[in-house]
Amino acid sequence: MTDLRMSHDEQQARELDLTQRVLRSFDTCADPRLRELMRAVVSHLHGLIRDVRLTEEEWAAGIRFLTEVGRVSDDRRQEFILLSDVLGASMQTIGVNNRAVGDATEATVFGPFFLEGSPHVGQGGSIASGAQGEPCLVEGRVTNTAGEPVPNARIEVWEADDDGLYDLQYNDGRVAARGHLFTDHDGNYRLWAITPTPYPIPHDGPVGAMLAATGRSPMRAAHLHFMVTADECRTLVTHIFVQGDALLEADTVFGVKESLVREFERQPASTPIPDGSTVDVPWTKVRFDIVLGPSEVRGS
Ligand code: BEZ
Ligand code: FE
Repeated sequence: MTDLRMSHDEQQARELDLTQRVLRSFDTCADPRLRELMRAVVSHLHGLIRDVRLTEEEWAAGIRFLTEVGRVSDDRRQEFILLSDVLGASMQTIGVNNRAVGDATEATVFGPFFLEGSPHVGQGGSIASGAQGEPCLVEGRVTNTAGEPVPNARIEVWEADDDGLYDLQYNDGRVAARGHLFTDHDGNYRLWAITPTPYPIPHDGPVGAMLAATGRSPMRAAHLHFMVTADECRTLVTHIFVQGDALLEADTVFGVKESLVREFERQPASTPIPDGSTVDVPWTKVRFDIVLGPSEVRGS
């Protein structure tokens, strides 16, 4: 064996020995799940460092980056969630925990802009509350995987306005473009929202800098957020996306699923709406039927 080969083997043995020693350090952990998680973190982290032959400067840059992610986070801004989102970690976790069951509607990313206590708008009401945008009539029916209607399901809807901003981002206390209602006895619902348009995720922090440095766009495909809760059903957090949106293939948080893309049918001004009256501007109409999985199905 040559000296070069020996020193390569010795180097590899030292690296693997360190990994093994760190893994063994968790043998004292009384909680088996925590032990499993910590050992997996160490083994993947060491594997990554060894595989890419990480330099000390690169490790220091990584620590500076994570420090900055923590520094800009507070109770209004969660840069770590944004990081998880743009790395696809949020969507991977959602996939693992929302196993496919029957024809249950697929889940997607929650995002940072949900707010507890949204206004109750009632059947046929509007969530706009002054938010600018083209009116959009959203209607559908909530059923379970047995095909039965789900009455009294709570449907929360929230979205950005035409300028690509959520009410929270104005920092002036306004509540707009969000609301909730309950399905009727037959599982039906109908509400007015605004036609979603594409917008960028907050990109003025370290996550935005990482996207720029890697040539990635901060844009999200146009979408409307939904959260649907009902007794004995798995809570569904999802979106609907707009058919034909050029960003469907390039959503920066990897949230798009083909099953969630819907046609937003364009309606000229003065097209009668279901209650027989008319709207004096062009509007859109979309149907979103929702199937809720049973509450006991988790993970796999
Ligand atoms: C959102 O859709 O609201 C969102 C999702 C992930 C990151 C940022 C925003
Ligand atoms: Fe959003």
